[in-house]
Amino acid sequence: GIPRFVKIVEVGPRDGLQNEKNIVPTDVKVELIHRLVSSGLPVVEATSFVSPKWVPQLADARDVMEAVHGLEGSRLPVLTPNLKGFEAAVAAGAKEVAVFASASESFSKSNINCSIEESLARYRAVTRAAKEFSIPVRGYVSCVIGCPQEGSIPPSKVAYVAKELHDMGCFEISLGDTIGVGTPGTVVPMLEAVMALVPVEKLAVHFHDTYGQSLPNILVSLQMGVSILDSSIAGLGGCPYAKGASGNVATEDVVYMLHGLGVKTNVDLVKLLSAGDFICKQLGRPSGSKTAVALGRV
Ligand code: HMG
Ligand code: MG
Repeated sequence: GIPRFVKIVEVGPRDGLQNEKNIVPTDVKVELIHRLVSSGLPVVEATSFVSPKWVPQLADARDVMEAVHGLEGSRLPVLTPNLKGFEAAVAAGAKEVAVFASASESFSKSNINCSIEESLARYRAVTRAAKEFSIPVRGYVSCVIGCPQEGSIPPSKVAYVAKELHDMGCFEISLGDTIGVGTPGTVVPMLEAVMALVPVEKLAVHFHDTYGQSLPNILVSLQMGVSILDSSIAGLGGCPYAKGASGNVATEDVVYMLHGLGVKTNVDLVKLLSAGDFICKQLGRPSGSKTAVALGRV
């Protein structure tokens, strides 16, 4: 059956904003994080300590972390692509980090400028350092279904990278359909391959909604025992190094579906909708959440 409680990992302030062309003021990012935390989300990915040349939007990572220091109620992990990013994150007060590998060699190169094996070696260094600080490390695998350059990615490749991240000590592995090409037809065999090597309790799924397949993909993932879901407020997002990829599945839509299934999330949908409304007004665009649009008309 479906898990009774699902942990939602809100990635809007990071995955959602990283692709925005216009620089969002730091105080808007901070207010967004505050609103997301107050809606009851257990985890809000706050920003990334990546190269500001690669992702200019998140160049204020240090200021964001300083402003949310002491904010209680949610864990606030940040992305770290290497030791340099890890050290900067810790210095800025981060208590949890995430590393991000890929199941596609081409995407690894275009996203983090190194091969899959080189990235795993970097992440071993990060997880080793994190252990000394007792900092939990989440591991992402990108392109778990398809890659913009290589097309279909074999499930065995995804399982290999997921297991490597698990073996180096990542407490949770998030499986990312970066370009949103998956359907239940491809997601199920991918999850079967990963679940043969990594316990399902440690797996999260991370769907981008390019083809509108996120909710069916989430439903089959839940049926297979996955109980951790990544999503983004108002459906914001996309990776700047994955051309044509649209935003993550909207958190409001995920919460609406989960509550409809009788699954507990701890999230207050009304407060969540207000967080979505806030960021959409700031960005000057309509919400990517169908639930937000529908309930906004009531
Ligand atoms: P590189 O150019 O190969 O790095 O970039 P390098 O080690 O050769 O250093 C070049 C310069 O970058 C140096 O500065 C370094 O100090 C600096 P310079 O001497 O030229 O002034 N540098 C850094 N600066 C700040 N923070 C750092 C850092 N590291 C080096 N951590 C690098 C390699 C990994 C840094 C770069 O490719 C990068 O930052 N990539 C990040 C790209 C990114 O953030 N992508 C989006 C997130 S992943 C995603 O969205 C997918 C996900 O959502 C899941 C899914 O959907 O599948 C997670
Ligand atoms: Mg993503």
